[in-house]
Amino acid sequence: MAIEIISTGRAIPPRRVTNNDLAGMIDTNDEWIRSHTGIGARHLADSGMACSDLAAEAGRQALVSAIERGAVAESTVEALALTVDVIVLGTTTQDFCGCPSTACIVQDKLGAKNAAALDISAACSGFIYGLETAAGLLGVNARRKRALVIGSELLSHFIDWNDRGVCVLFGDGAGAVLVEKTAAPSEGEGRRGLLRSILAADGSGADSLIIRRGGSRNPWQAGEVVDTPPHLEMNGRAVYNFAVKAVTGTIEALLSDQRSEDRRSEDQSSEDQRSEDAGISIDDVVRIVPHQANARIVQAAAKRLGIPEEKFYLNIEEYANTSAASIPIALDELNRSGQIRRGDLIMTVGFGSGLTFGGNLIVW
Ligand code: UT7
Repeated sequence: MAIEIISTGRAIPPRRVTNNDLAGMIDTNDEWIRSHTGIGARHLADSGMACSDLAAEAGRQALVSAIERGAVAESTVEALALTVDVIVLGTTTQDFCGCPSTACIVQDKLGAKNAAALDISAACSGFIYGLETAAGLLGVNARRKRALVIGSELLSHFIDWNDRGVCVLFGDGAGAVLVEKTAAPSEGEGRRGLLRSILAADGSGADSLIIRRGGSRNPWQAGEVVDTPPHLEMNGRAVYNFAVKAVTGTIEALLSDQRSEDRRSEDQSSEDQRSEDAGISIDDVVRIVPHQANARIVQAAAKRLGIPEEKFYLNIEEYANTSAASIPIALDELNRSGQIRRGDLIMTVGFGSGLTFGGNLIVW
């Protein structure tokens, strides 16, 4: 049994805001933003939009693509949507404050009436966590065959647009993959699909990247008047240092599969599988698709590990940081442009609020 990605999709709001546009609003400039982050522009949703609008459109694009590529027997989006068993949505910017889940709203928008639907709250690692979650949900039940894994963010509604240390970094967007449980092998010769994932967290860093208001810790009070709506606060330097370690550690762990979780739970069969899987060389990996938070984080990790920077796919210049959406947006771009092909070994790696981090190793 293999858990394979059979199609991809994305939804990007049309409104493109350049660094120079921001420089007309706050005390910043194109040179600072580019040199500190690699960002040149971001796409921002209009005020009437919500996270589920982008998520549903990215999911729909993945369904359309599966039909157009002949990857499924169904010939209409409506029919294909009915075959989706699970919708997993990674997001930090839900339509509502967790009730209901945004995935349920997406299920309704897509007409995916037979799908279980849940949100994953792992911030920028949401797609990485979501893919592994979907694989687990498909794996444990013979009747479940297909899952939509979506990362969608409408961060611009949770940004203090006067905080130049934060507002220049983020953008809106969504990406999605349609995942199918197939009869292909997941190990050995001809193996396909999701080979393994690293999911990790360091909750002691929860304060480093946080939206403080609106939850059960700091609920709104009746009659309260605030100057700033709930917004993302960030200790940029702390997140930066954490991120470089998280990216390098995850890449090494995915290559060697020596994570402690595996060591604790291994039995003979997993031992056998590990020795077969272990020792994947970085040269075998066609592309590393990192979370797009800051090009400097990727460059620092590449340098530490001695990996050529060109192996990392970066589109941060156009979209900025779209949190859980950044990896599936990048996967869709790579897939549609033919830069990744069937059989290629792909690695994702990311980190975010929580603090969370992790990665996936996938045969495309
Ligand atoms: O998905 C995860 C989300 N977050 C991240 O990945 C963020 C990780 N952190 C970073 O990427 C970097 O720490 C930042 C890009 C956020 C900041 O870069 P930095 O090199 O750590 O800059 P800094 O915060 O130390 O600020 C340096 C200077 C300060 O001025 P002074 O005090 O030296 O005079 C800031 O006020 O840059 C100033 N500054 C800006 N100047 C122009 C901060 N933001 C801006 C800005 N435009 N937008």
